[in-house]
Amino acid sequence: MKNSKIAGIGYYVPDKIYTNDDLSKFMDTSDEWITERTGIKERRFAEKHKETSSTMGTRAAQMAIDNAGINKEDIDFIVFATLSADYYFPGAGVLLQRQLGITHLEAPALDIRNQCSGFVYGLSVADQYIKTGKYKNILLVGAEMHSMGMDFTTNGRSVSVIFGDGAGAVVLQPTEEEGRGILTTHIHSNGTHAEELAMINPGSHGGVWLGTEKFGYPDAEEMGGVFVTQKMLDDGLLAPNMTGQLVFKTAVKKFPEVINAALYEVGLTSKDISLFIPHQANLRISQFVQKLLKLEDSQVYNNIQKYGNTTAASIPIALYEAFEEGKIKDGDLICLAAFGSGFTWGSALIRW
Ligand SMILES: CC(C)(COP(=O)(O)OP(=O)(O)OC[C@H]1O[C@@H](n2cnc3c(N)ncnc32)[C@H](O)[C@@H]1OP(=O)(O)O)[C@@H](O)C(=O)NCCC(=O)NCCS
Repeated sequence: MKNSKIAGIGYYVPDKIYTNDDLSKFMDTSDEWITERTGIKERRFAEKHKETSSTMGTRAAQMAIDNAGINKEDIDFIVFATLSADYYFPGAGVLLQRQLGITHLEAPALDIRNQCSGFVYGLSVADQYIKTGKYKNILLVGAEMHSMGMDFTTNGRSVSVIFGDGAGAVVLQPTEEEGRGILTTHIHSNGTHAEELAMINPGSHGGVWLGTEKFGYPDAEEMGGVFVTQKMLDDGLLAPNMTGQLVFKTAVKKFPEVINAALYEVGLTSKDISLFIPHQANLRISQFVQKLLKLEDSQVYNNIQKYGNTTAASIPIALYEAFEEGKIKDGDLICLAAFGSGFTWGSALIRW
């Protein structure tokens, strides 16, 4: 079986920059609080009603296709990871296919809802299809438009200061070279705390059963069988919620665990990692994981300071920037890893 390699990378971030001071105009927060807790200095927000997750994903995808030196018509499988799809359904993959102008080829489009781990999950799925020889040019996209769905009042500040908009994409192809490309991927999930980092409305639960008392509300029955009720709107229940400390504690445990499992499988150690590109969840999480893995600063790439947490887009955006900055060279061992809502997490080791 042939390994898969990343043949081209692309990215797109909206022009409009919002600094921490800009956010403090809408809510009670400060540059000091955000910087100290998350490392974030600024993020991009897309232009409402002009841009969406799929339009940003399409721009990143076109760049990845160009950088891979292929034509968009060569794409035989689309994988789109996002938690902020344009529509409740259908998924963003078919919209991207339409925007790329390749509907006539009728290649499959798969949508992945694995939030912050979406890109690593997508990489793992794509890798299996390449290994079996089924597809030869897989377009994997991660794109998010968080700005459309967050609560920018003081009520939502612990979540909304963290997230930003953007997109990243890669083209995956089989490689002829033994020992190169994706060496291994590991993906995991544990739904015990599904609602602790979540946006539970709108949903088919209708407020009645959420797997936990915490998010139920007593008058759910009267809401009836609709996805969105006036009460949900009035109570501000159409925005994400996060139990930050639980997320932090679990993330710093699962990141090293899944990275070490990958390293162990291929007989390497963290010393062998040329560049670790973590999902840009929070700079403090990345620094904690770096310490646990005993990695030097030169072995880790972070850009959350500029973009905030762009969920499924964060790894491909960081990968693009690290590559452009000359931090990824032929033969390097690149480690990607992510953790997020679900909880879901995963890692990938790539011999570039
Ligand atoms: C979210 C996170 C930064 C919050 O930091 P924390 O130290 O846990 O802070 P707490 O939630 O305990 O809140 C501390 C205080 O800051 C306040 N606060 C919350 N958000 C704030 C903001 N944006 N600005 C100012 N104050 C804020 C809280 O209301 C609380 O005030 P109180 O003490 O008067 O009640 C931290 O938990 C974290 O980094 N978690 C991981 C989140 C993450 O990475 N998510 C993405 C996963 S993919």
